[in-house]
Amino acid sequence: MAVKKIALLGSTGSIGVNALDVIAAHPDRFRVVALAAGSNAGVLLEQARRFRPEAVALQDAKAAETVRQALAGESIVVLSGERGVEQIGGWEGADMTLSAIVGASGLQPTLAAVRAGKDVALANKECLVMAGDLFMQEARRNGVRVIPVDSEHSAIFQVLNNGQRESMATGLGSGVRLILTASGGPFRGWKREQLQPVTAAQALSHPKWSMGRKISIDSATCMNKGLEVIEAHYLFGVSADRIEVMVHPESIVHSMVAYADGSVLAQMGMPDMRTPIAVALAWPERIWAPVPVLNLTTAGPLTFYGPPDPAVFPCLSLAYAALEQGGRAPVVLNGANEVAVAAFLENKIGFLDIPRLIQWTLDGADLGLVMGSVADVLEADHGARKRANEWIVRYGKGSMVT
Ligand SMILES: NC(=O)c1ccc[n+]([C@@H]2O[C@H](COP(=O)([O-])OP(=O)(O)OC[C@H]3O[C@@H](n4cnc5c(N)ncnc54)[C@H](OP(=O)(O)O)[C@@H]3O)[C@@H](O)[C@H]2O)c1
Repeated sequence: MAVKKIALLGSTGSIGVNALDVIAAHPDRFRVVALAAGSNAGVLLEQARRFRPEAVALQDAKAAETVRQALAGESIVVLSGERGVEQIGGWEGADMTLSAIVGASGLQPTLAAVRAGKDVALANKECLVMAGDLFMQEARRNGVRVIPVDSEHSAIFQVLNNGQRESMATGLGSGVRLILTASGGPFRGWKREQLQPVTAAQALSHPKWSMGRKISIDSATCMNKGLEVIEAHYLFGVSADRIEVMVHPESIVHSMVAYADGSVLAQMGMPDMRTPIAVALAWPERIWAPVPVLNLTTAGPLTFYGPPDPAVFPCLSLAYAALEQGGRAPVVLNGANEVAVAAFLENKIGFLDIPRLIQWTLDGADLGLVMGSVADVLEADHGARKRANEWIVRYGKGSMVT
């Protein structure tokens, strides 16, 4: 069996660490050749010593210097800055890049992987939200496979690859609907007034999944599901009106595909990201993952409800509207959301301010402008962040405006 060489973007994060766990369980199958992260020199160094990649990179130059000094005299190349992280994305020795940097910072390094012809295991949903058309066009042009890691999209990918993918384009597929399941997050069933005073610690304590901070807040606001609707649109070529959200608090059914003949195919498993990571790394083969196999006799009742109440969780509707509007709307939505989540985590704005800030940013942006290049995407992202920060200055907790 040929060993698959993996470049891992975001190795120190939740997905990155889980991916290394899967990789370490299969030394005969995978080899880590390159690692990249933001600023966590300590964890990156441990990973470098354990997995002995050809190269590592940290976006933060000072942290990269710490790693460079610690690895002096060893044969591991140490890179730094955005350029260094991009080099890891397209690392020559890699067969596949696992993209797990959080947020917009993942866009350029993941595009570097695509342009270098590397298959991509995609956890970073933000790059599809920001530049879905451009990204998928670039993937097609370079003959690159984009295999989702997000559990919902992995579920749909597994269902559609179960022999029915072509039916999407045929008569049978004309009625295909994607049903994304949602745990509902820590505030499922809460009323709007209860959400006013919630703290970052409350919002970060997800009932089912252990994840990084940004996606945990996105999950609490239901923006995560909105970003996933946009991600599903670009990954599977299905229009927004055929992508539904269903709340399923047990997080056992990871998503479903409903066909015109009345069949609904679902993928199930324990809520553990090492399963979709293993699927993406080994596809089309199946490998063992360090996850207990689901036992439906002990899993307890599985329950399903309609989508989150839009009056309580408006972020999901904002994302649907941005997808339908197209143009710059998804990139503005994403940029504003990233600013809002960071501000909420720093206690500069309240929980209910997150959708307010995003709506205000969208209202003030010129959404009709064409997005023909990555430069256009980055410009729209920059503009959105600037305006979102204006909202914080005007209406955030420290402001004088009431
Ligand atoms: N966690 C999940 O279960 C899950 C599930 C589905 C999808 N996803 C998606 O996967 C992505 C990662 O999520 P996560 O939960 O793993 O996030 P996380 O735990 O916060 O980890 C983020 C990773 O990105 C790195 N990073 C941050 N800024 C960077 C930059 N400018 N340049 C290079 N690296 C940078 C971090 O490095 P430092 O540690 O050095 O800061 C860290 O390695 C997100 O897009 C998320 O939506 C996650």
